[in-house]
Amino acid sequence: MFSKQTLLAYISLASTLGLVNAFNGTAYLGFANVEGCSCPAFNGPYGVAVPRALVGSHTCCNEGVTLSYKGNSVTAVFSGFFDAEGAQDVALSPRAFSDLAPSTWTGPVEGVVWQFA
Ligand SMILES: *[C@@H]1O[C@H](CO)[C@@H](O)[C@H](O)[C@H]1NC(C)=O
Repeated sequence: MFSKQTLLAYISLASTLGLVNAFNGTAYLGFANVEGCSCPAFNGPYGVAVPRALVGSHTCCNEGVTLSYKGNSVTAVFSGFFDAEGAQDVALSPRAFSDLAPSTWTGPVEGVVWQFA
């Protein structure tokens, strides 16, 4: 039987595993093609810009995005809009990029799974 309870348990599990609203795209180094939100400096050096179409109700400068790539993960502040590349592609600040893909000097790297935290 596929009860409502089973469904809810399934959704909760999927959510725990981070399968809900996760995207998979290419990460680019730097904000050259980003429309930035002019976030305050105290937000720190970890920034990410995402495609405008995926932003939904999330607030720029005020929310975290977690990204993972080849066993590394990093949380960066949503800091701008990046529509220069593919539908699920993101742009990362240098610090966030080097934590995520330490062996890649300039990027981009494919297969970055990310979601709003
Ligand atoms: C993400 O996309 C890449 C390249 O298309 C693929 O190889 C990889 O398996 C995908 N990862 C996940 C978690 O879906």
